Amino acid sequence: RKPVSLPRLQDMRERGEKITMLTAYDATFAAVADSAGVECLLVGDSLGMVCQGLSSTVGVTLETMCYHVESVTRGLRRVQGTAWVIGDLPFGSYQESKEQAIRSASALLRAGAHMIKLEGGGWTTETVRFLVERGIPVCAHLGLTPQTVHALGGYRVQGRNDADALRLKRDALELQDAGAAMLVLEMVPAALASEVTQQLPRCHTIGIGSGNGTAGQVLVMHDMLGIHLGKTPKFVRNFMEGAPSVREAMAAYVRAVKEGHFPDNAVHAW
Ligand code: KIV
Ligand code: NA
Repeated sequence: RKPVSLPRLQDMRERGEKITMLTAYDATFAAVADSAGVECLLVGDSLGMVCQGLSSTVGVTLETMCYHVESVTRGLRRVQGTAWVIGDLPFGSYQESKEQAIRSASALLRAGAHMIKLEGGGWTTETVRFLVERGIPVCAHLGLTPQTVHALGGYRVQGRNDADALRLKRDALELQDAGAAMLVLEMVPAALASEVTQQLPRCHTIGIGSGNGTAGQVLVMHDMLGIHLGKTPKFVRNFMEGAPSVREAMAAYVRAVKEGHFPDNAVHAW
């Protein structure tokens, strides 16, 4: 198998093949997800909640992110994995300046990431352009952006009213224009996520809780394996149901996304 690359993802997009992504935080699970056919592994700052027991992602540090990116990429190297690895820039590691952002992004790339992800629209566009121009692939993230949960007033659906939807569409276009090659859309109405996807041919939308009209899907690994500390988000499906192993559960997720059976807009879209 050849390593997943940006041209390969663009090719999948043009052929209408859905892109699959799961979060990964350690060597073994990363290797298992890779062997199950998951194309993209996101070392998300959700690790603050699922690995560290924090109550939000706000407290995750760059050092912690690098530790997990290194673990994941070592695991992939051990099995000659091919997954595309995305590292989250944690809160406070890119807000200060474009220079701070490139220092932080460089640390994640040194740890083994192929792409970095950062949250938000508006002011982030300038940062995204700065990183992309300097050769760092960037994944943007709009809708529910957990690092700003305190400002958003909780973990809730975003882009519901016309003004918010319009702003999200404008932000998405600007991010594509700045060179973002991927865009996570978290907890936005399915119709809005589809519309954004249509308007971004060069920036692949990856949905979570945003219906099935996006170019790809992502889930937090623990959620799709049915293990939780708190309550499960409504849009999650437990792929361990009926699966004899974690690897099979991940393979079932890949199949369900590729065949358009997950997510099911009739069950959990807003
Ligand atoms: O940190 C994370 O896991 C994420 C995904 C839920 C998109 O940002
Ligand atoms: Na994240």
